[in-house]
Amino acid sequence: MRKALVAGNWKMNGSMASNRELLSALKEAIPGSDAVDVAVCPPAVYLPDVRAQLQGGSIAVGGQDCSDETSGAYTGEIAAGMLKEIGCEYVIVGHSERRARQREDSDWVARKFIAAQAAGLVPILCVGEQLADREAGQTEAVVAEQLDAVLDQAGVAAFERGVVAYEPVWAIGTGLTATPEQAAEVHRFIRDRVAARDSSVAGGLRILYGGSVKADNAAGLFALPDIDGGLIGGASLDAGSFVAIVNAAGAARGPGTP
Ligand code: 13P
Repeated sequence: MRKALVAGNWKMNGSMASNRELLSALKEAIPGSDAVDVAVCPPAVYLPDVRAQLQGGSIAVGGQDCSDETSGAYTGEIAAGMLKEIGCEYVIVGHSERRARQREDSDWVARKFIAAQAAGLVPILCVGEQLADREAGQTEAVVAEQLDAVLDQAGVAAFERGVVAYEPVWAIGTGLTATPEQAAEVHRFIRDRVAARDSSVAGGLRILYGGSVKADNAAGLFALPDIDGGLIGGASLDAGSFVAIVNAAGAARGPGTP
C-alpha cells in the first residue's frame, strides 16, 4: 500500500502572521500517521520561519520551485541545495502556473526534477492538460509529453524518489474539479506509462490529484485506487479545510482499506 501524501501549495499567499496562525492550527490537528504524509509549500521567503514553526512535528516543508542549476549567476533563482539546507523535504516542479507564466518547458522541468533529487529533495512533478487540450482529445498526448521528458532525462528509477501530481489546468482555482472518473482515467494512464518502463517503480509511485480539491470532494477522489493524495491550492490556506482533506486521505488509506 502506497502511503498517501497531501501537500498544500500556498502559491503566492500568506504573511508571517497568517502563516503562524495557520501552522499552529495544523500542528494541533495533524498528529502524524502511518497512512498519510503531510507537507506545506509556502512562498520561499517564509520557508525558514515555517520550518521553525513546524520543528519537531510531523508536517514536512517543501519549496514551490527550484533552479535547474546548483549555483551561480542566476538572479532570483533558488537552488535545490538551498531548499535542502533550510530543511525542505519536497519541491514542486513544473507547476502549470510556472509552465505558463515563466514559460517552463518539459525539458527544463526535467532538469529541475533531476537537480531536486541530486540535492536530496523529493520532487513533486506537476503534469496536466489545458481545457483546449481536453476538448481536442489531446489529454493523454500532453501528459505523456510532460512525463516522458522526465522519464527520458532522469530515467525511470528516479521515480522511486519522486511524486507526480496530475493537475488539469482547467480545474485549478476554478472550482471545477475533474470528476473522479476523469481523474482516475489519467492517473491510470500515468501509472501505465511508467509501468511500461518499470512496473515495480510504477507500483510504488505516488500520483496526487490537484485542482479544486476541497473538504467535500476529497474523499471521493482519494477513494480511487490510483489516486494517492492531493496537491491542494486554495483549500490549503484554510486550516479546517486542509485538515479535513488530510483526514479524508488518512481514512482512504486507514485500517481496513484493502
Ligand atoms: P486549487 O486547489 O486552488 O485549485 O489549486 C490547485 C493547485 O494548483 C495546486 O498546486
